[in-house]
Amino acid sequence: MAEVVGGAVATSGKFPWVVRLSMGCGGALTAPRVVLTAGHCVGRTGPTTGIKVIAGAVDLKSRGAIVAHSVTVFRAPGFRDETRGDDWALVQLDRVLDLPTLPLVEGTVEEGEFVVMGWGQTREGSMRQERKLHYATVPSVPDDTCAAEYKKAGVKLVASDSICAGKSGVDTCQGDSGGPMVGRNATGEWVQVGIVSWGLGCARDGYPGVYSQISTFRDDIREATRRLG
Ligand code: ARG
Repeated sequence: MAEVVGGAVATSGKFPWVVRLSMGCGGALTAPRVVLTAGHCVGRTGPTTGIKVIAGAVDLKSRGAIVAHSVTVFRAPGFRDETRGDDWALVQLDRVLDLPTLPLVEGTVEEGEFVVMGWGQTREGSMRQERKLHYATVPSVPDDTCAAEYKKAGVKLVASDSICAGKSGVDTCQGDSGGPMVGRNATGEWVQVGIVSWGLGCARDGYPGVYSQISTFRDDIREATRRLG
């Protein structure tokens, strides 16, 4: 299990819509000047100029990397903290990026094998963020199984807002928050199914990663994207 935990380094252009945010989170372009990330990665809704966004590159230090900055943040109105649901937010950029956007999944999707990615730690306890984007394939874990495991740790899973995914040795980790979890639609295109939200440690046996469930928030994300786009 080498290296996201248990993954591999992405090749250039494989995930063209994924971005890195300067507070140490990931995100994905839902529109040419709008990034979808986790609610816990940002502050409250309103004008926000301090977030730097690196896009269009696997290697954060590559010459081809595109840099933009935040103008406004819209955080899910119900957001309180990462484990209590509604963990999504949009960041409006100061310019339009000439990059592909990532569509939100249609219908209700909760089960399957998904791909997760980020520049976060490659193991629990490592203090290091990665220079290159890592990704891994993770199986979903049913909500009731996941809820039962986290109950043992004293955390209540908000099942309607969450998809659990991961297995021992393969997971997202600190610094991956806000990044996309993706699957393929019927025509083979990547669609966003989840947002990296939280977990107990990383890649631990019995404790999968928890992702915000896009299908639950799709209409709200779409409407807010339209307003910021
Ligand atoms: N909350 C973390 C962050 O801010 C993401 C943790 C994901 N953890 C996991 N075991 N899947 O980066």
